[in-house]
Amino acid sequence: MLRREFLVAAGAALTVSACAGAAGRREDYAGYTAALRAPLRPEGGTPELIRFATLAPNGHNTQPWRFTESGRMIALHPDMTRRTPVVDPDDHHLFISLGAAAAHLELAGAAMGRSGRAEVRADGAVRYRWTPATPRESRLVAAIPARQSTRSPFDGRDVAPQALRRLDTAARAPGVRMVLLTGRPKLDPLADLIVAANGVQMDTPEFVAELKHWMRFNAARAMATGDGLYTAASGNPVFPDVIGSVMFDAFFRKAAENRRYARQMASTPAAALFFAERADPAHWTGLGMAVERFLLTATAEGLATAFVNQPAEVAAYRQALAALAGEPGLRPDLVIRVGHAPRLPYAPRRPVSEVLLPG
Ligand SMILES: Cc1cc2nc3c(=O)[nH]c(=O)nc-3n(C[C@H](O)[C@H](O)[C@H](O)COP(=O)(O)O)c2cc1C
Repeated sequence: MLRREFLVAAGAALTVSACAGAAGRREDYAGYTAALRAPLRPEGGTPELIRFATLAPNGHNTQPWRFTESGRMIALHPDMTRRTPVVDPDDHHLFISLGAAAAHLELAGAAMGRSGRAEVRADGAVRYRWTPATPRESRLVAAIPARQSTRSPFDGRDVAPQALRRLDTAARAPGVRMVLLTGRPKLDPLADLIVAANGVQMDTPEFVAELKHWMRFNAARAMATGDGLYTAASGNPVFPDVIGSVMFDAFFRKAAENRRYARQMASTPAAALFFAERADPAHWTGLGMAVERFLLTATAEGLATAFVNQPAEVAAYRQALAALAGEPGLRPDLVIRVGHAPRLPYAPRRPVSEVLLPG
């Protein structure tokens, strides 16, 4: 699923008729996705810019952001009602998500002829002030609607050295460290840490309950809420809500999940570890901007990416993770695997009208 696949072949046990409604709505979902991820329309003004900003990756797809506009300034605020306190008690995921949306503001703004910088404030919020300018297209803007978190196994092919160099350049930013790991001597110990930390999370009922709260077991539910973790977007079956809930409880198990992550990592040729040089909201937002430029660069290079943050989320594993990356003094914030894989269905988003509030 989402990050935690659970259903395996269990879907076959369900009657086809029980699932037919939910499965049929997947066609509607393709249309919904096409509209959500349509190429940028530069004439679309602020709502169009916000649509592009909301395509940013974000933890559990809670979309913890609000936008306000005042003249030629767009403010990006954290939405603390959309925290995930179990997996992210200090909100570093939340501010990284905010930073990813800020990176989209800068890139899509430039492509719309609104040139400006996203200034990160000490509290982690963002002010994007712009001035009219000649529209500036970039391959990163084109990558915004194409990017996704691809939670399937990869095909094992290596990432080309030139692409690795571009990824390295894309992630450079003040206050941010990124270390790329390639080769089995580094990736196998990373896989061990991911599996071990995943086991800790799976043994934590509060973690599982929080994850389940954000699960969307069918297209109708994903489109209705516009948020959360839609099972098909992780290559898993769809079910009517009640059945999905029962299946989750029955089949979302530590051993199967650990095997799934081990398989994913065995097919992964490269991974990036991200560190903010300080643990505060402003640094996390800045980190999110760098992470997003990294992810968009990967997309533009034809690469798939997925987050495997478990050893950064479970505090007991952070030291070993940092040591593996040769950064023993820093606190790791994110782990992203990089490789090649076909696209999966896209994740939903809330409509612009829900996140663009009166100034
Ligand atoms: C800070 C942050 C942490 C995330 N952590 C995880 C994770 O641990 N596991 C996972 O599968 N996805 C993780 N994601 C990916 C989100 O679930 C994903 O971005 C969201 O569901 C929207 O899907 P999309 O990226 O395909 O647009 C994370 C994303 C961000 C920005």
